[in-house]
Amino acid sequence: MRVVIGLFVALEVAFIISTYRQWLRLRHIRGPPFAGLSTWLWAVAHSLSGQMPTQLQQVNNKYGSIARIGPNMLVTSDWKLWKHITHISSRYNKSEWFAGLRLSPTRDNVVSMIDKEEHARLRDIMDRGYSKSMLNELESKIDDHINSLLNLIESSYQRPNLPFDFARTAMLFTLDAISDVTFSSPFGFLKSNSDCFRLMETIEEQVPKITVLTNFPRFYNILKRPLPSWLVPSPKDKAGMGAFMGVAEKVVAERYGPEQKDIRDILGSFITNGLTQEEAQSEILVQILASSDSTATAIRAIVLLVATNPPVLRHLLKEIDDAVNTLCGSFISYKDTQNLEYLCAVVREGLRLWPPSTGLVPREVPPEGDEWNGVRLPGGANIGWNIWGALRDRDLWGHDADEFRPGRWLEYNTEKLKEMQAMAELVFGNGNHVCLGRTLALMTIHKTIFELFDQFTFVVVNPDQPWESKGYGMFLQKNFWIRAYNRPPRPPRRQASEH
Ligand code: HEM
Repeated sequence: MRVVIGLFVALEVAFIISTYRQWLRLRHIRGPPFAGLSTWLWAVAHSLSGQMPTQLQQVNNKYGSIARIGPNMLVTSDWKLWKHITHISSRYNKSEWFAGLRLSPTRDNVVSMIDKEEHARLRDIMDRGYSKSMLNELESKIDDHINSLLNLIESSYQRPNLPFDFARTAMLFTLDAISDVTFSSPFGFLKSNSDCFRLMETIEEQVPKITVLTNFPRFYNILKRPLPSWLVPSPKDKAGMGAFMGVAEKVVAERYGPEQKDIRDILGSFITNGLTQEEAQSEILVQILASSDSTATAIRAIVLLVATNPPVLRHLLKEIDDAVNTLCGSFISYKDTQNLEYLCAVVREGLRLWPPSTGLVPREVPPEGDEWNGVRLPGGANIGWNIWGALRDRDLWGHDADEFRPGRWLEYNTEKLKEMQAMAELVFGNGNHVCLGRTLALMTIHKTIFELFDQFTFVVVNPDQPWESKGYGMFLQKNFWIRAYNRPPRPPRRQASEH
């Protein structure tokens, strides 16, 4: 018994000494009380709240643009520091936090990969799948799914005039559109108007757990060992993540099998450029998960912000109506959207006010340490990014930083505008990890917003609480009830052959 008590006391003492040492290393950086003593006291508690973006904003507002939120974790809302950290030639690397973004415990993907060389290899191959020429070819697929989205709203909700949950409908749309451009087999979410194999339900269940686990990267090293089969999703599952993996496995096997199919899409490009079958299987899942929620969040937020702001809505509709008179084709092209300055300002402002991807994505300070504006950053410390706070910072954006005001993008001189753009483009990350799907996402958002507002007037059913929105690095949103009314009929758009 004495031996057990002795061992227990020794462990406690060792724990207290190591906690004290950890605390000492970053004690010069202020943060919420006790956050520096244990990951549980601030980081885990707040990960679970679903309010992480606004809580990080409060932390940086209160304790300064570099603050401490864990024993070894800092957070910054200083966009210039984040640009420095993520610069292409920076010595900072991704921290172990990213291990939490593995889809399979034993396999890394381009998002979770920490090893710099291996990441560069994967990225080099995958980048070509998102080339401008490839996206031009795939644009008509986005049009097909915009068409299905408009038809679904028209036939199921507009004619019987039923309120519908646009949070769900937007996600059905992005899942179909992105699976089609990725591997030419849309899941059929819009057609069946349902959550095929309960994928959305699974995402909603899993995301809060993943957010908590990213606080404990060492846990993933345990998971790297083979696990009992009942603990990990299997492609043979009938529903959830396993069933989704099953679809990816089947689609990829067809492309690598004896009767290889050579198809022009993102997966086709991955294969041509040398991704192995196993890598392709894992990467197409990541593409779809990384993209469908973020793109859907952007579309939902912009619909909400425009529908509830009459002057902005009027201005946007005027631009849309003028454009429709001169456009040619059933759907606006991405190229033509880029000539509509107010639409572009609406999208920019929507992404600024509601950045869809708010993960901490911490980087590790290089071993020699660093210094920023007189603050010492010791080697090995992790520093995360508070994009929500940066994009609503009043010192940078003015007293109306919290307001949706697309006009701000049209009224400044070139120098100020350049600075605003440099800040706002961080919505898609920076440097060697800048979002691979940036152009695809922007194409989908601009085109969809144009076509939705061209066809419908949207009324938000519960303006005092328009939606349930929880931020876990990505947003889980539901119960965004709206009604859609047809806008007055106009002459059909000219078709290409009429030129
Ligand atoms: C509005 C929509 C989107 C937003 C806001 C967004 C945001 C981001 C951000 C901030 C990062 C960088 C994270 C970091 O610093 O480590 C990132 C990376 C990434 N994104 Fe996106 N994304 C969007 C849509 C998409 C789409 C449509 C795809 C693909 C189809 C995609 C695929 C990826 C991939 C693969 C990475 C990892 C890049 C790397 O680490 O090298 N994203 N995204």
